Amino acid sequence: MNSLYKEIESIRGRFAADLESVSPGQESEILRHRYLGRKGALNALFKKMAALSVDEKKEAGAAINELKNELSLQLEEKNASSIRQVKNREKSDFTLPGYPFPMGTLHPITTAVSEILGIFSRLGFDVATGYEVETDWYNFGSLNFPENHPARDMQDTFYTESGHLLRTHTSPVQTRYMTSHQPPVRIVAPGRVFRNEAVSARSYCVFHQIEGLYVDKKVTFRDLKGTLDLFGRMYFGKSAKIRFRTSFFPFTEPSAEVDVSCFLCQGKGCRVCKQTGWLEILGCGMVDPNVFTSVGYNPESVTGYAFGMGIERMVMQKFGIHDIRLFYENDKAFLSQFY
Ligand code: PHE
Repeated sequence: MNSLYKEIESIRGRFAADLESVSPGQESEILRHRYLGRKGALNALFKKMAALSVDEKKEAGAAINELKNELSLQLEEKNASSIRQVKNREKSDFTLPGYPFPMGTLHPITTAVSEILGIFSRLGFDVATGYEVETDWYNFGSLNFPENHPARDMQDTFYTESGHLLRTHTSPVQTRYMTSHQPPVRIVAPGRVFRNEAVSARSYCVFHQIEGLYVDKKVTFRDLKGTLDLFGRMYFGKSAKIRFRTSFFPFTEPSAEVDVSCFLCQGKGCRVCKQTGWLEILGCGMVDPNVFTSVGYNPESVTGYAFGMGIERMVMQKFGIHDIRLFYENDKAFLSQFY
């Protein structure tokens, strides 16, 4: 009986020493096998109990069981702590190579639109939006397009089966906004527009515009010139100049097209500006009185100016991009060049 207790004590001691020498992460299964396994030290002890009396068996059995519980508890703790240690080591190994982490970039059109909206919001313009699917009234009628205007042709405009159309410009946002807001109005409206054109390096069936509209008492062409001149310098750089060429739009009178001096050659003439020194960036003019009438404004009491710029063209000029289709192909190699 006594020798059994001695053995219990010596197993306890050996186990403690063995446990000490197990290094973190090492399999403590070996110890479990050595002490608690079927052929382990504790089972050997249980076998030795056969020679004892019934009372002694009870006592010795309880003592061995206690040892068994103690050892398996210690093994579990050791296991848990070595898992913790391994994890901590992984966490703080700064020598491991980093994971590749591909970064997305903003689309160059997105960047340009937010830059331009930023400029106009600093000049006091609100941002308005309209609909990509429009009615004939807002896209054409309210904007003083005559019934037989060629832009209304199926050749130029996408019509839906329900009799709506995909807006061909952002100008319907002007008349939508004025229909629901009283003057003074000062807005810019970014958005996609759609034209049924042959796709080529220069034109695509969808592109982006930013519309501008300013209506108040006594707004003049001089205000339009001043605002666009300032915009030109803010977007294209301090030395940028702009010039106005007379033009025609049904919804503005007088109308003009605006060129900016080519920033690549500083107006000297190069391939991008086709040797002219100028790049066309937008159409504009004074809001036609018929447009005011169609939205319920009194053309006797307010005047206004409007402009619409094509974003793709401006970005193509800014970065020397020669094919508009590149904007719509989602080619990572192309898109990752713009930060
Ligand atoms: N909507 C015209 C276009 O798409 C541009 C424009 C807007 C012209 C506002 C004048 C005033 O070409």
